[in-house]
Amino acid sequence: MIKRNTKQTVEAIRWKNERLEILDQRLLPSRFEYLTYNSAIEVAEGIRSMVVRGAPIIGCASAYGVALEALRLRTTTTSEFASAMDKAFKVLAKSRPTAINLFWALKRMHAIWQSATGLTSSEIADTLLYAAHQMLAEDYRVNRSMGTFGAKLISSNAKIFTYCNAGALATAGHGTALGIIRSAVEIGKKVSVTVSETRPFLQGARLTVWEMLQEKIPVTLITDNMTGYLMNRGEIDAVIVGTDRVAANGDVANKIGTYMVAVLAKRHNIPFYVACPLSSIDLTTPNGAAIPIEERNADEIASFHGYQWTTKEVNICNPAFDVTPVDLVTALITEKGIVKRPNSDSILRLFNS
Ligand code: MRU
Repeated sequence: MIKRNTKQTVEAIRWKNERLEILDQRLLPSRFEYLTYNSAIEVAEGIRSMVVRGAPIIGCASAYGVALEALRLRTTTTSEFASAMDKAFKVLAKSRPTAINLFWALKRMHAIWQSATGLTSSEIADTLLYAAHQMLAEDYRVNRSMGTFGAKLISSNAKIFTYCNAGALATAGHGTALGIIRSAVEIGKKVSVTVSETRPFLQGARLTVWEMLQEKIPVTLITDNMTGYLMNRGEIDAVIVGTDRVAANGDVANKIGTYMVAVLAKRHNIPFYVACPLSSIDLTTPNGAAIPIEERNADEIASFHGYQWTTKEVNICNPAFDVTPVDLVTALITEKGIVKRPNSDSILRLFNS
C-alpha cells in the first residue's frame, strides 16, 4: 500500500480489508463514522448523497469505485467484464456534474483499463486498484506542493477568509485551500482563519471549523451574510478558496456563494486566491458559462437533518456552485507554482511546463 500522509490529517477515504471505507461527512462534527463500500454503484451513491464531497476526493473515490467493480468481476470472462465495467463508468460519471476531478479520474482509470490488453480480468482488477492507490498518493503530494507555494503568499499574522471546505476532508489529505493555511502554520506563520458557514450544506461550519480545531489553528465562524461587514472593517487580509473546475480562460467554479465573496474582496482590495490542482483545470471547457452547475434537492434549503423551517409549498432554487469570473482572481495556486492574474495562455503553459 502506498503511503500518502506524512503528517497525518483525517482520511476522508481509506482502503481497508479489501474494501473502500468512506468517512460519512454528513454526520460531522457530531459523529465520526466510516461506511463500507463494495461496488461502483455504492460509491456513486456515496458521492451523490455527499457522504464524500470535495472535488479531488470525489475523483479518488470514483477511481476506487472502478477498482471495486473490477475486483467484483475478477472471475468473469473478458466480455462480461467489459460490459459490466462500461456500466460502472457510466454510473460513476452521473454521480455529480460540476467537479471536473471526477471525470479526470474516470478518464485516467478508463485509459489504464483500455491499455491493459492481454491481461485477465483478475490482473486488470489488480492494475486498477494499484492505479487508485497511486491517485490518492499523488493527490496528497500535489496538496503538499500547493501548500509550499501558497504559504509564501501568506504574511505572518494574516487574517485569512475561507469558504466551504477545501481541506483534508475534500482531498487525500492536507487540503488545497486549507493545505496552504496548514503549510503557512508549519513554517511558523501565525495566521487566523475566518470561516463562512456555507449555506445550505454547512461545509464551512461543520467541516472546516472541525479541521482547524483539530490542529489548534485559530478559527472564527461567521454566517455567510457577515462577510462584507468584516471585510469593510479590515478584518480580512486574504481570501483562499478551492475549486471544482477552472475553465480554460480561468473562470472558477466553486461552492455557491464564492462569487459573492470574490466581488466583495475586489471591492475591499483583498487578494482572492484559488487553490487549484491541475486535475481541477478543464481545458475543454472554454469559460465559466459552459461549466455545468449542479442543482440539488430542495430539501437541503428547506430543512437540515430532518428539521423543516419553511413551508412545503414554497418554490426553491438550489444551485450548488457558482462561477467567479477570472478578472476577480488574484492568483491560482497550483502544484506547479503560482499563476498571478491567470489567463488562457498562462493556464495552458502550466500543462506544458
Ligand atoms: O458540494 P461540495 O461540498 O462537494 O463542494 C465542495 C467545494 O465547493 C470545494 O470548495 C471544492 O470542491 C474544492 S475542494 C478542495
